[in-house]
Amino acid sequence: MQPDRPGELIDRGALIREIDFAPFHMRVSTDRYHSPEFARREREQLWMRVWQVAGRADDIPEAGDWMEYRLFDQSWVLVRGKDGAVRGFVNACRHRGNAFCTGKGHSPRFTCPYHNWSYGLDGALLAVARPDFEGSLEDFVGEKAELGLITAKVECFAGFIFINPDPSAAPLADFLGEVAGLLAPYKLEEMIPIGLNRREPLECNWKVVMDAFQEGYHIQAVHPELISAMDESQERYAFFGDHSVATGPFGAANLEDFGPEQQADSIRGLPATFPSVTEVLPRFEEMLNEHRSADGTLTFPEGVTGRILLQQATRDTLTGKGLDVSKLTDIQMSDNHFHLVFPNLFMTIRAGEATVIISTPHESGDPGRCYWQVMGLMWLPPEQRAAAREPLHEVKEGEHEPYFLALEQDYDQMQAQQRGLRNSGLTEMALTRQEVRLAYYHSALDSWVAERGKR
Ligand code: FES
Ligand SMILES: [Fe+2]
Repeated sequence: MQPDRPGELIDRGALIREIDFAPFHMRVSTDRYHSPEFARREREQLWMRVWQVAGRADDIPEAGDWMEYRLFDQSWVLVRGKDGAVRGFVNACRHRGNAFCTGKGHSPRFTCPYHNWSYGLDGALLAVARPDFEGSLEDFVGEKAELGLITAKVECFAGFIFINPDPSAAPLADFLGEVAGLLAPYKLEEMIPIGLNRREPLECNWKVVMDAFQEGYHIQAVHPELISAMDESQERYAFFGDHSVATGPFGAANLEDFGPEQQADSIRGLPATFPSVTEVLPRFEEMLNEHRSADGTLTFPEGVTGRILLQQATRDTLTGKGLDVSKLTDIQMSDNHFHLVFPNLFMTIRAGEATVIISTPHESGDPGRCYWQVMGLMWLPPEQRAAAREPLHEVKEGEHEPYFLALEQDYDQMQAQQRGLRNSGLTEMALTRQEVRLAYYHSALDSWVAERGKR
């Protein structure tokens, strides 16, 4: 049973020194990043069988809104029905297979542009063109009821639309397992993309992207400006099915060794890297003032630290905005939790906000290319959401618009890694302990991609 605040499971996750490394494979083969044969198996064994994010539910908010989801050369249509439910259909007309949708749009029904067969938002075949022939439809093609659009498994969770190309797949809840309970209290389904919502082709394998966000080991070399904001020695790790979580403790490693004013200053500096902390600072300053003497000197009583005040200020601020954070732990008020929902959904989550990274294989099937989608999610009161929502922006092949500093650094690094990984002279990677999640992740991948698969 999960605790009342499920985040406690992660608060109690293992520190690196507490992990038994015996079961982990710290050497990982590199053909998975460039071999066409591996990519073929990955396509059939993983992608055509796994639950994967196809979009956000608020991409198609109104009945009749639809959008296409593509994976390699496969295509599905996701549509919001009149009953409010999101459904998925194979994007192929039941007459002679024409792809009847491209991109996204809104319509009361689907009409195939080849011979005008039309379908309801629930996929039912409504009519064939030339009503003079309709009476003979049964004679030629069988019952109308048998010729609805082919349904695909689609479920919504945390504001994401998940699809599974495998008609016999188990429900999404089975696949997510405990992760669903861990994510639920954040209310991701009430968050909207703000500021950043972009999809861009990259010159690297889709797993290079997922790898880059599952370890903090590269912070020292690639993101030196983040070192002072994170306490890597306190990172905690927890594994759930094929999924995993790590924490990114906020605040300098030796915060408690600093005086109260220094602690306060380090927290005042956080918005330079984590802009959303800005909205918490007024409450934080109020709480600090409660510990000031008449001459302005700041002293913390036993048990109070700048970090604890940050957590309380965050809880107060978010509660004041209308977000119920009662099921989130104090640590979730201050620290980033890095969730990897296998195989390709990564989220850095703090109370009230999340940064989402999704990588998918390139539709060409070239294992050296992929797309990544980067999205900043934030919780806002319902009446503010529609106006603030950032629509998805697709970056064209060969174009690039810079991201904020840390992401821009990753963008360059990932593509440089692929240039090395594709060398046939290199056959494996050697992981360090701080990269234990990669070992776990690639073992999960191997179990899916094995020719006969354990699943
Ligand atoms: S292929 Fe769609 S109506 Fe003929
Ligand atoms: Fe990074």
